Amino acid sequence: MSDTQIDPATRVTGDAGGLSFPAGFVWGAATAAYQIEGAVTADGRGPSIWDTFSHTPGKVHNGDTGDVACDHYHRYAEDVELMAELGLQAYRFSIAWPRIQPTGSGPANRAGLDFYDRLVDALVARGIEPMITLYHWDLPQPLQDAGGWTNRDTAYRFAEYAGLVAERLADRVGTWITLNEPWCAAFLGYASGTHAPGITNPPDAFAATHHLLLGHGEAVPVLRGHGVRQVGITLNPSAVRPLDATAPADVAAAARVDGLQNRLYLDPLYGRGYPADIRALIDAQFGGAPWLRPGDEQIIAAPLDLLGINYYNPTIVTSAPGQPSSSVHPGTEDIRFMPATGPLTAMGWSIEPASLTSLLERLSRDYPGLPFWITENGCAYEDEPEADGERVADPARIAYLDGHLRAVHEAIARGVDVRGYLVWSLFDNFEWAEGYRPRFGIFYVDYETQVRLRKDSARWYHKVIAEHGLPD
Ligand code: NOJ
Repeated sequence: MSDTQIDPATRVTGDAGGLSFPAGFVWGAATAAYQIEGAVTADGRGPSIWDTFSHTPGKVHNGDTGDVACDHYHRYAEDVELMAELGLQAYRFSIAWPRIQPTGSGPANRAGLDFYDRLVDALVARGIEPMITLYHWDLPQPLQDAGGWTNRDTAYRFAEYAGLVAERLADRVGTWITLNEPWCAAFLGYASGTHAPGITNPPDAFAATHHLLLGHGEAVPVLRGHGVRQVGITLNPSAVRPLDATAPADVAAAARVDGLQNRLYLDPLYGRGYPADIRALIDAQFGGAPWLRPGDEQIIAAPLDLLGINYYNPTIVTSAPGQPSSSVHPGTEDIRFMPATGPLTAMGWSIEPASLTSLLERLSRDYPGLPFWITENGCAYEDEPEADGERVADPARIAYLDGHLRAVHEAIARGVDVRGYLVWSLFDNFEWAEGYRPRFGIFYVDYETQVRLRKDSARWYHKVIAEHGLPD
């Protein structure tokens, strides 16, 4: 990983639309443990909340589970070969906490750590920079039984777990992401209940948010104590805008959504404490903030080295008093989230690369100081192989990735410091409550045979990496 400051002046624009990225810009891909590993009882792994949730009838589309997924746990060596052939420079993966601490506390399960040790060695041997995500949603079930992220103790358990992983891997892994998308973990997990642990009690989502951030803040010095040099967190900031930018009520609606999804996380991480407007909303509607103790905001503000940004689609809102209350977005009962428009991905998401440019510019303006990484970007389609059983044509994905890379390039040209881009995802995988139907991979996975096929987008990305930019 390069510490080099990106210089927008290195921008080169080809005559026919080719774009070159700054020297040092890193090309990678991302995955997460529960979505690809399978082997859920191997080598002493304990159950996670996603094992419990996916095995609960009615929670996941088609009753799908992560029991086998891409069987990456057993196939990691071949998978690393595929990454090397692709030319990946960085690979972001997550550690399954229940492999390291099957009950969520206590000494490390050596066999669980051994797996990641082997994976890291394989990556390093092929010149691929490993990037670790410590928490990508698979909380050990015993911690959930004690309240999960609504229990302050989970934050301390997380820091302890971070130390066990860093002790073993910090010598070879330079970049560590503490949490992936805490908004999703908190609000999908505890307000809408559409993700594990499936709780539908909005005040819990705010408590969970706080304990996730506290756990992050507690973990940062632990990681540094093990010699980790690059520590960050990955958020999914909402690219929210008003339906009518000239209507004050719509502008206020967008500002509230921005507060609940973005500033609620960014402000404390950047040392500003929780935003006053959202604190007032929590006090008025969600029973106050009994979870907040003196000194917590200082802990959450532990200095970082990078901010990870996951971006997929925009959010457009309008003021609409009398809306039925939204379980995903508590605190926005008078706001309407506009339905997606235009060609949609298999997730039903609209495609709007320009929103990524404006999001990056906004974040860079309002939250200066840290370099950004696009730690996820990609799209799902219901891809299938051609009749020859080999080729997987996915022109819509190539168009999506091309458009979003141009958007990142544009942000860099306007002065935003973006250091790398990680495609979501390397493989088709278990898409949480949506199961295996949406395929996000640049590699197709045949779940019956576990054969991996390069989609056209993988061939295209190979070229992008080789040319360090977009082809003409
Ligand atoms: C973000 C999450 O981090 C990842 O796990 C998920 O698969 C993608 N979004 C696509 O929904």
